[in-house]
Amino acid sequence: MFRALVVEKDDAGKTVAGVQEIGEDRLPDGNVTVAVEYSTVNYKDGLCIGPGGGLVRNYPHVPGIDFAGTVETSDDPRYGVGDKVVLTGWRVGEAHWGGYAQKARVKADWLVPLPDGLSARDAMAVGTAGFTAMLAVMALEDHGLEPGRGPVLVTGAAGGVGSVATAILANLGHEVAAVTGRPETETYLRDLGATQIVAREEIGETVKRPLEAETWAGCVDAVGGAMLARVLGQMKYGGSVAAVGLAGGAALPATVIPFLLRGVNLLGIDSVMQPFENRQRAWARIAKDLPLDKLNAMVTSATLSDLPGLGRDILNGQIKGRVVVDVNA
Ligand SMILES: NC(=O)c1ccc[n+]([C@@H]2O[C@H](COP(=O)([O-])OP(=O)(O)OC[C@H]3O[C@@H](n4cnc5c(N)ncnc54)[C@H](OP(=O)(O)O)[C@@H]3O)[C@@H](O)[C@H]2O)c1
Repeated sequence: MFRALVVEKDDAGKTVAGVQEIGEDRLPDGNVTVAVEYSTVNYKDGLCIGPGGGLVRNYPHVPGIDFAGTVETSDDPRYGVGDKVVLTGWRVGEAHWGGYAQKARVKADWLVPLPDGLSARDAMAVGTAGFTAMLAVMALEDHGLEPGRGPVLVTGAAGGVGSVATAILANLGHEVAAVTGRPETETYLRDLGATQIVAREEIGETVKRPLEAETWAGCVDAVGGAMLARVLGQMKYGGSVAAVGLAGGAALPATVIPFLLRGVNLLGIDSVMQPFENRQRAWARIAKDLPLDKLNAMVTSATLSDLPGLGRDILNGQIKGRVVVDVNA
């Protein structure tokens, strides 16, 4: 038997989440069983703990889109008993049972060996949000971003993706401008390395002019919607925006003018289906370029029974930084 956060549908079709003891025979098919040590809370987890957001395929469901732990059994030659592993993406925690449990059974193809220099807890302090932030930074670099080109904007900066992006970019020597709707997070964001704080309302609405002053050399955008549209018109010539999230909306009320007159690039970032080689590259960069003291400064700890409340909080934009879930606590 092991403990898991199980989401069930009641007779009225409403989802109800609670911690249960369940048998190992209920684990789904897969060729590696992992003793989970830590999981975390991402925006998608908020959806999967709660109403599902169209992501969850079947109930009862165990959410948790990422986890880190130790291989307990393996039918795959790439992983042996005792190996430390990390998992993000592949629709684990959505279409498949996820990391909010003391055990998970998955395909070996979905796992990545825990990189040297990171503990299982560190890996989940990073989690899907931080892994995606690193993918975004790598995409900006692949399109020419380097320190000295000008300030890099991070939207939704006090959230998970934004906090990790801020810390990585600052550590790489970039000037970071952090957009937040929570002025009380200013000290937190400056401690992570932001040198400029931009109020959400300053940049959160579209304007008639398709181009404004060339301001940002790059952008990691966790917000989407009107803010992304506005940012496109403020990019420096040839600058790139890595579109990561939609915390502010999925619609993009923009014109193509920034692409045509300033050669601006809009780079799509998907963390879920990333090939193995790029996952390894991103985790290695995280181990190298994200200072552990900055990572620790953005983390709060939680247990399985805290998750229903935390799921609601993240959907309301109320989580600061990253939450690490100790599934054995
Ligand atoms: N592409 C991918 O593979 C991928 C992977 C991970 C996450 N994501 C997406 O990235 C986004 C951020 O994820 P996360 O885990 O970092 O979530 P999060 O911790 O909740 O961060 C989102 C942040 O966005 C800001 N925000 C929230 N509502 C807003 C609104 N209405 N208008 C403007 N800003 C708003 C808030 O920051 P402030 O309080 O600082 O303003 C909030 O903390 C989500 O949409 C998520 O689905 C995508």
